[in-house]
Parts: sequence; C-alpha cells; structure tokens
Amino acid sequence: MPHANKPAASLLETQAMTLPADADGMLALAARSMFDSFARSAMGMMVVDREHRVVWISDGYKRFLPALGRTEAEFVGRRVEEVVPNSLMAQVIDSGQAILVDLLTNQAGTFVVSRLPLRGAEGEVIGALGLVLLDQPETTMQPLLAKFGRLQRELDAARSQLAAQRRPKHTIASFIGASEAAIEVKRQARRAAQTDAAVLLLGETGTGKELLAQGIHAASARAARPFIGVNIAAVPDALLEAEFFGVAPGAYTGAERKGRDGKFKLADGGTLFLDEIGDMPLALQVKLLRVLQEQEVEPLGSNAVQRVDVRIIAATSRDLQAMVAAGEFRADLYYRLNVLPIALPPLRARIADLDPLIDALAEDIARRAGLAVKQLDQDAHDLLSRHDWPGNIRELRNALEQATLMTDDPVLGTGHFASIATLLEARDRSTPAPVRTALQRLPQAKAELESRAIREALAATGGNKAAAAKLLGISRATLYEKLGG
Ligand SMILES: Nc1ncnc2c1ncn2[C@@H]1O[C@H](COP(=O)(O)OP(=O)(O)OP(=O)(O)O)[C@@H](O)[C@H]1O
Ligand SMILES: [Mg+2]
Repeated sequence: MPHANKPAASLLETQAMTLPADADGMLALAARSMFDSFARSAMGMMVVDREHRVVWISDGYKRFLPALGRTEAEFVGRRVEEVVPNSLMAQVIDSGQAILVDLLTNQAGTFVVSRLPLRGAEGEVIGALGLVLLDQPETTMQPLLAKFGRLQRELDAARSQLAAQRRPKHTIASFIGASEAAIEVKRQARRAAQTDAAVLLLGETGTGKELLAQGIHAASARAARPFIGVNIAAVPDALLEAEFFGVAPGAYTGAERKGRDGKFKLADGGTLFLDEIGDMPLALQVKLLRVLQEQEVEPLGSNAVQRVDVRIIAATSRDLQAMVAAGEFRADLYYRLNVLPIALPPLRARIADLDPLIDALAEDIARRAGLAVKQLDQDAHDLLSRHDWPGNIRELRNALEQATLMTDDPVLGTGHFASIATLLEARDRSTPAPVRTALQRLPQAKAELESRAIREALAATGGNKAAAAKLLGISRATLYEKLGG
C-alpha cells in the first residue's frame, strides 16, 4: 500500500468491524474512501493549504516532478503558483469555487485536471485538492480538444476583429465637402494631426465630429496605436470614474474582482476621444483636469498611479463657453481642452456640399445594403437643398437610407422624401409673402429682418455666437440680449 494512503487505509481497517448506522458517519467514510480511490486511480493528486502551500502529493504525482524541474523536497512546502506554472489552485482557494474540469498546459505537458476547495468544520476554505485526471489528452480526448481548438481560433478571430474595430474607420478625406467651410475644417484637422495638443470639436449634432476625430487620429503619428472613444452622455455618472481610470484588482467583489483597465489606459500611446464633454459632471471635471496635467491615472481602489501617454480630442454640440459663464463647466478644464478648437459648420451653412454628400452617402448606403446606387432627380435635389437640416449629415444619411430601402425605384423623387416635403410646405405657408412684408408696420418688419439676419449668421458660423456677432457687426452682449438672454 503506498505510504500516502496510510491514514485513510488504516481508518478503514479499524472501522471495518463496526459500520456506522448514522448518515454522518457514512458520509465521512465515503469521503475518505473516495479520497483513497482518487489517490490511487487519478494520475496524480495534490493537497494545498490555505496559504497556497503544497502540503501533500500522491505517489502518482511524483512522476511529473522531473518535468517541472523540482525534487520532492523542492516541491512540497512551496507555494503552488511558484512550482506549477499556470496552476489555478490559488484561485480555487481564494474564491472557494471548484473548477471541475479544465485543461492545464505547462512544460510537463497538457493535462485534464480538476480542482476542488477543501472546507473545514465551519465551512471555511482550508485549502484545495488538485487532481490530474488524464495526461496526453491530445490522444485520449481528441474530439473535445478539436472543439477547444476551434473555439480558441474563433476567439482569436473575434479579438482581432475587435482590434480592427478599434482602429479608426475614417480618414480626413472621409469628411466630404469642397465648400470653403469644409476645406477650412479639413485644413485645421490636418494641422491638428501634426501635433499632440488637445483638440476641441464644436458643432451641432450630426456635423461629423466623431468622423473628424477619427480622421485626425488616423493622420497623426499615433495612427498605429488605439483610438478609444467614450461617450460621456451615454455612461451613468456613477460609473464614469471607473470607465475613465479603471478599477484595481480586488477593489470590488463580483465581476470587477479581477480589476479592469480604464479608457485612459486602453488609449495609452494613442488617442482618447471624449464625446459629449459638455455632459461631464463637475466633480469628475476636477479629476479629468488633474489627469490631463499629470498624465497619470489612479485606478479606483488602488494607491499606485499608472503613467499614460494619451492625446485628447473632445467634442460637444453644447455651447461650452456659455456653460463656463454659467458655472456649469470648469474654466480651467475648458482652456485645457480648447487648445485647438475646430468649429464644424452645420450643413445648411455649406449647402453647396449637398450634392457631393448625397453621392458619397448614397454609394455607402447601397454598398452596405448590397443594392445598386440610387440617383436623385432634379426635384428631389431642389427639395433637399431647401431643407434646414437640423440633424445635419446624420439626418441626410437617414433620409437617404429610408428612401433607398423603401422603394425599388432606381431614381428617387420628391415623393420618396415625403416628410421633408411636408415640413417645407408648412414652412412656406407660415413665411409671409414678400408683398405682405412690404405692407407690414415698420417695427415688425425690422424685427423680422433682424431675427432672420441673426439666424443666418449663427448658421453660417456653426452656432459660434462670438463669430456671428462679429459677422453682424454687433457686440456679443448685444447678440445675447437679442437672443433673449
Ligand atoms: N463631412 C462628412 N462627410 C461624410 N459623412 C459625414 C460627414 N459628416 C458626418 N458624416 C456622417 O454623418 C453621421 C454623423 O456624423 P458624426 O457621428 O461624426 O456626427 P457628430 O458630430 O459626432 O454628431 P453628434 O453630436 O450627434 O454625436 C455619420 O454617419 C458620419 O459618417
Ligand atoms: Mg458624435
């Protein structure tokens, strides 16, 4: 009888005469005899204590020691993670969760293993039991391993796809437009790509802020490194800090137990795109400012800092300057982000770009849907060029997408843009005819003219009030007053 099995065996011998009638005794006996059979029939077995130290190995286990490069004296008494590469015994002890079947690979080979926590009288984990069930599973478990190999390859493919998705999809040339305003935007973007300075993209919704951010990254020296975006408006305030700075291992229980890298860390060496920066809670603005100044992050629950090297591009459709004035956005953070501001004009202010945009978008939509590219007739073009496009290029894209998918007609007419047509009809009806304007009382005519001039100036400057005021030849204060505060 192997020496390792002595305690269990002698116990069996002494109790052989008096089999206990009670269930507890029976169970204790079953546990011992199971241990005994496993120690004999498994290829190897080890017991590890709560401190992860190997306290016992079966005779069978000893055959693996040469391959692991240890003698028994160098093995027993050492922490399992030191002597068995890739062992998960420590995890079983710390979590109290068994790993019933697993594959373990290290220099001794690949094995089918089982790991069970051992519990004391109070149910507390006192160690763990490790079993080597099979070696050379390559031959004994061929079908299962083939499946494992396939899953592994699928995982690798999914990982590289994810990495590809993280690479920006757009270049500065993807920003379609040949108008003066569009060319100026692209010029500023190219200049920004030459530097590491913070960029602030300002513009209404759907004007291409995210597209341009990707374009700047792709044209920069950081192009081969990650482009990571965070939409601040989409993340609940309570989770933003962890999202940005990460969580240290062990800071939380549950899913976050292992810790998690924050977006700053993920973007290390690359570009971090802070979308909807105007939605950032004030408390977090202070922390963000500190990170930008120090280029260091401190994960939640950690007291060690990580150095990070990130280029920041922020974007917002809100009037940040007004938010600063109203005390809703920290001035110091604003200046830190506003090093290279780029104002993206709304579509209505560069309506000359409508045709090239329609061409590019229609082509993209057709390609994605696997359909032939659709053309627009002249009336449809005229209709779309009279629309105000409050949702800008995104709205244009949606309108084209809907029209394309709605019909089999190869040519799209006004009928395919019914909601825009209805909107324009309503607008035309409510706008006073020129004849009536002439017959208006002077104060009313003046007020109407003034409000139209302001609307157009704001449209032309992409909502930039300072620039609009300049264009109108009035002070910014006067413009605010006329806008009603
Ligand atoms: N100049 C452009 N050329 C081609 N496509 C554009 C252009 N501008 C925007 N788009 C397209 O319009 C859509 C909206 O653009 P994007 O998401 O960059 O806008 P955004 O300014 O970030 O809007 P929001 O403020 O709502 O987040 C995207 O599909 C984008 O590819
Ligand atoms: Mg966006």
